[in-house]
Amino acid sequence: MTAPVRVGLLGCGRIARLAHLGALSRLRDVNLVALAEADPRRRAEASRRAPAATTLADYRELLDMPDVEAVIVALPPSLHADAAITALERGKHVYLEKPMALNLAEGARVLAAWRRSGLVGMIGFNYRFNHLYEAARERICAGRLGELVIARSVFSTSIRPMPDWEQTRARGGGALLSLGSHHIDLVRFLLSREIRDVSASWRTQRTEHDTAVLQLRLDDGVLVQSFFSLSGVEEDRVEIYGQAGKLTVDRSLSLAVEISPTTQRYARARQLARTLRAARGIPHAIDKIMSPGREPSYRAALAHFAAAVRFGRRATPDFCDGYLSLAVVDAAEQCATTGSWVSLADPLDAGLEMVAASSAAGQGASRRPCGVADA
Ligand SMILES: NC(=O)c1ccc[n+]([C@@H]2O[C@H](COP(=O)([O-])OP(=O)(O)OC[C@H]3O[C@@H](n4cnc5c(N)ncnc54)[C@H](O)[C@@H]3O)[C@@H](O)[C@H]2O)c1
Repeated sequence: MTAPVRVGLLGCGRIARLAHLGALSRLRDVNLVALAEADPRRRAEASRRAPAATTLADYRELLDMPDVEAVIVALPPSLHADAAITALERGKHVYLEKPMALNLAEGARVLAAWRRSGLVGMIGFNYRFNHLYEAARERICAGRLGELVIARSVFSTSIRPMPDWEQTRARGGGALLSLGSHHIDLVRFLLSREIRDVSASWRTQRTEHDTAVLQLRLDDGVLVQSFFSLSGVEEDRVEIYGQAGKLTVDRSLSLAVEISPTTQRYARARQLARTLRAARGIPHAIDKIMSPGREPSYRAALAHFAAAVRFGRRATPDFCDGYLSLAVVDAAEQCATTGSWVSLADPLDAGLEMVAASSAAGQGASRRPCGVADA
């Protein structure tokens, strides 16, 4: 039997309360030994939920603790780069919530610190661990949709109270960074292709750039159109059209991945068969209802991180994936400002060279071919 990984949690705000605290306390391979939270009320609440953990007011104090092996960074994005780099320099493995950093310059510094350290660096693109997206990727890789044509996605939330940082881009807010970064990663994960060209526009209503439309051209020409909003209706949906069918995943509502044929022939019979097949998704639905934050992928992503730390394995998605998502957000922001398409050739090639170098060193590999499972 191996000893549990001694973990520190940096930031006990909304997502830590909804997802990380519950998931970490349930994982048998993890021992939550310390937590840091600046807000006294949140700190007291987190301490009640993890009474054995040392409770601190500032994340830097936690990074001074020699017996913390690994940290989960759930701080506002403006602190991600400093927290991750300091943790790596002190020999601690890092699970870093998305977005990796506020901008590409900070992202590159995190990437460099990670590569120097040889430690596990995982980015919080937890939706890769959602059963529905895993199943969707398998089906796409197996060629169930035939040659791909276009993909369409929506990630939108209803109006909810937002922390100050999420209301301005300079502090890490806006729909592209908050929501878009997840779907940009999912496009790479689901379709096993890289993003080449980007076009975007945005709108400010309640908070800065709270709605955005993004268009991507992938390296083989597949087109992707995405809509992100922090001021809309709750929806997280991906539709992928191929010459042999259409795949749909609604992360909140689907019980199973749905593949529709290209024609409406025998539509009713197919609908009935689909309903019966969907019953197989009930275990997923129960898992979802029982999960902290109603999203099982947080727990699965943290379990993957803990296993990578304990057994010295690679964790994916890694900081190269975080950097590539940030490069697309950066290009989208340039487009939204100038109104023209931006080619990602330079940052993408630089990012992919880093991916290749870290794969060769046994560290990261985001561009796995279909069918190659994570270590
Ligand atoms: N993976 C996902 O799906 C997902 C979902 C939501 C949020 N996030 C990310 O998680 C991070 C946190 O988001 P949130 O919604 O919980 O924000 P939040 O503002 O609710 O939480 C951040 C917490 O950090 C604390 N903090 C600030 N400075 C600190 C310091 N010096 N030391 C200790 N604590 C400090 C704040 O008091 C706050 O409680 C963000 O980067 C966000 O993008 C990821």
